[in-house]
Amino acid sequence: MTRVGVIGAGKIGGSLLVRLAESGDFDLGVSDVHPEYLRPFADRYGTWSTDSNLELAERSDIIVVAVKPWDVGTVLESIAPAFEGTDKAVVSVAAGVTIQSISEKLPAGTPILRVMPNVCASVGLGSAVVTANEAGRGRLPMVMEIFGHVGEVMELPERLFDAATALHGSGPAYVALFADALIQAGVREGIPRDIARRLVIGTIGGTAVLLKERSAHQVRDEVMTPGGTTAAAFVAMEKAGFVGAIYDGVNAAAEQSRGLGK
Ligand SMILES: NC(=O)c1ccc[n+]([C@@H]2O[C@H](COP(=O)([O-])OP(=O)(O)OC[C@H]3O[C@@H](n4cnc5c(N)ncnc54)[C@H](OP(=O)(O)O)[C@@H]3O)[C@@H](O)[C@H]2O)c1
Repeated sequence: MTRVGVIGAGKIGGSLLVRLAESGDFDLGVSDVHPEYLRPFADRYGTWSTDSNLELAERSDIIVVAVKPWDVGTVLESIAPAFEGTDKAVVSVAAGVTIQSISEKLPAGTPILRVMPNVCASVGLGSAVVTANEAGRGRLPMVMEIFGHVGEVMELPERLFDAATALHGSGPAYVALFADALIQAGVREGIPRDIARRLVIGTIGGTAVLLKERSAHQVRDEVMTPGGTTAAAFVAMEKAGFVGAIYDGVNAAAEQSRGLGK
C-alpha cells in the first residue's frame, strides 16, 4: 500500500485526506500545527497523525505539502533530511511555488510534483492539473490516481500553472461571486431570497451539466431568442464590461500567482 503523508490538514489537505481514507487504498498519515485538526481524521478513519513534519515525511512514500505558499519553505527545510538516499516524492499544491524553488530546499534528484487543485475537491468534484520535474515523471500516474479521488486531473506544463491557478484554482470563488450577484438581482426583482437562491444554484448546476455536452456558444444560442429577454440582458451586461471584467480578474490572479513564485 502506498504510504501518503499530508502536511496541512486544511481545506485542500483535509479534503484529500477524507477521500483517500474513504477509498481504503492508501496508508495515510497527516501532520498539522493544529492538533485539533488531526483528531477527526484519527477518530473517523484511523489515519495516523503527528505534530512532526519530519516524522511524517520519514514514514511516507509520497508527501503532499498542503500549507499556504509562504509556509512551504519552512516545511521543506524541516522535512529535507527524510529524502536523503530515498526515492520519496514530494507533491506541492501551493499556488505560485515553483519546482525550481522547491528543489533548492531538497536533496538533488528528489522527485518533485506540483498539483493545482481547487476547493471543489471537498465534494469530490475538483479539477486539478499536475506537472513534475524529470525525476518525478515516473510518479505522475500515482499522483494522478491520488488526486483522481477528489476530481478530474490533467497534465499541464509548469509554465501554465499561474494561469491555471487563476482559472480553476480561484475559479470557485468567481462562480460564487456570480451566484451571489445573481441571487441579489433576483431579490431586487422581488423574488423571495430562498427561492432566488434555489433557482440560481439549480441554474448553475444544470448549466454545468449542459456545458459538458455542448459548447458555451451553443448553450447561449439555445437560450437567446432573437429580440428576446436574454439578448437584452447580454447587451446590458456587455455595456457594463462583464466579459472584460473576467479577463482582467483572471489576469490579475495570474500576476498575483507569478508574484508568489518570486
Ligand atoms: N483553498 C483553495 O481554494 C486552494 C485552491 C488551490 C490551491 N490551494 C493551495 O493549497 C494550499 C493549502 O491551502 P488551504 O486553503 O488548504 O490552506 P489552509 O486551509 O490554511 O490549510 C493549511 C493548514 O496547514 C497548517 N500549517 C501551516 N504551517 C504549517 C506547518 N509548518 N506544518 C504543518 N502544518 C502547517 C495551517 O495552519 P495555520 O492556519 O495556523 O497556518 C492550516 O491548518 C495553499 O498553498 C494554496 O495555495 C488552495
